[in-house]
Amino acid sequence: MTTRYRVEYALKTHRRDQFIEWIKGLLAVPFVLYSQPTGVFDVGVTEMSEEAHRRYAEIMRDVETMLDDHIRLEQAVHPLPSKLKMLVPTIGSFFTRLPLEAAFKSQDRKRYISSRRYVSPSFNDVRLILNTAQLMAVTTYGSLQLATFDGDVTLYDDGESLEIDNPVIPRMLDLMRKNVKIGIVTAAGYTTSERYYSRLHGLLDAIATDETLTPAQRHNIVIMGGEANYLFEFDPTSEFLLSPVPRSRWLTPEMQAWSEDSINRLLDIAEAALRDCIKSMNLPATLMRKDRAVGIITTDPKVRIPRESLEETVLVVQKTLELSVRADHTSSAPAPGSSNNNNNKNGGGGGVNRVVPFCAFNGGRDVFVDIGDKSWGVSVCQKWFGGSSPADEGMIKGDQTLHVGDQFLSAGANDFKARSVGTTAWIANPAETVELLDELAGFMGKKIS
Ligand code: IMP
Ligand code: MG
Repeated sequence: MTTRYRVEYALKTHRRDQFIEWIKGLLAVPFVLYSQPTGVFDVGVTEMSEEAHRRYAEIMRDVETMLDDHIRLEQAVHPLPSKLKMLVPTIGSFFTRLPLEAAFKSQDRKRYISSRRYVSPSFNDVRLILNTAQLMAVTTYGSLQLATFDGDVTLYDDGESLEIDNPVIPRMLDLMRKNVKIGIVTAAGYTTSERYYSRLHGLLDAIATDETLTPAQRHNIVIMGGEANYLFEFDPTSEFLLSPVPRSRWLTPEMQAWSEDSINRLLDIAEAALRDCIKSMNLPATLMRKDRAVGIITTDPKVRIPRESLEETVLVVQKTLELSVRADHTSSAPAPGSSNNNNNKNGGGGGVNRVVPFCAFNGGRDVFVDIGDKSWGVSVCQKWFGGSSPADEGMIKGDQTLHVGDQFLSAGANDFKARSVGTTAWIANPAETVELLDELAGFMGKKIS
């Protein structure tokens, strides 16, 4: 591995979203050409912002057209690489087209992107435009049937719980009232209802006591824990409002093929690599082994493991597991719904011992390696709730699914994997999830009216 490769790949690629960076680069051109930092040349801020708005919107429309072409070519009988694929090689597959021009105009009304003279369109501007476009798409071109949510950082702050006064709760109940199914797809892996109740009690209590939900709507929520390892359904008769669902009722045929031996072997290799990292970087961390995961957590909650060490650990474990696949001369396990799985090729997963996929990720304060990943977790939810028509073959489809999460960088991020089975929205904190759900409700309301 050359130094250049390390700089370009290991140190950079896993911390960049190339599609967003590319759009940001395109928008930087009109910003440089038309922004008027000093208000010279007799151009007022209003004229400048109108001109910048027109140029930005044109660019977003051009990208939208390129994306349409990318989707068309991917669906062709003999797929050809699209121009977009050539320009952004890591671009994935899309379940819906994205109305980027309309989404830009909507975000520009909120964020005044075109009025800025000193700060060019940013990563966050583009991320939020893409989210808006995705919300518009799942409510306009199809109808949203399943919304899945990550836990930490998406519904509540890292390591916290979903308390009764969390503003996301009424928004989630509102979705359930509209018959949208809910899945909480979290890496947090516990084997008992009590542990999940302690993290999610605010939402579960609200569902149990809300008088406007029908009994059927109350059951439109599941908890998928440990990425894809433990399924719990809502149960108003249980002390903790949840009942574990035996694996025999929800494992897909592919998941049934993950043998206990292969799972344990994968976790053994990961454990050895994690122990090496603790030793070589003298991390203030201790190892935690579970039946479907292995991770490192801080020895003292007041001491944080440096971000760089967490990232290094993820990359070391991921590489070690990938190399062990190669040593076994095996191919990597396809993600569920695998024809749409370009994104997975860049991610922190693969197959060990023929079929067991894994997800190694940086949880902000810890590193975990889980069996399976969120693509499996979300697809179990799609199957659990089933489609609404016979044509759906018992699955909610990718274009009827929205996964909301905070971890979408290609390596060391666990929500990224959900992109291969459904549409996604990338939020940065729980407040953004609340805003996103308000935006979604607005688009759903418009469609209904
Ligand atoms: P998420 O953001 O809801 O996916 O939760 C990720 C966090 O759950 C991790 O950062 C860990 O702190 C915590 N966690 C607890 N148990 C597990 C496990 O078994 N695997 C992965 N993460 C876990
Ligand atoms: Mg998270």
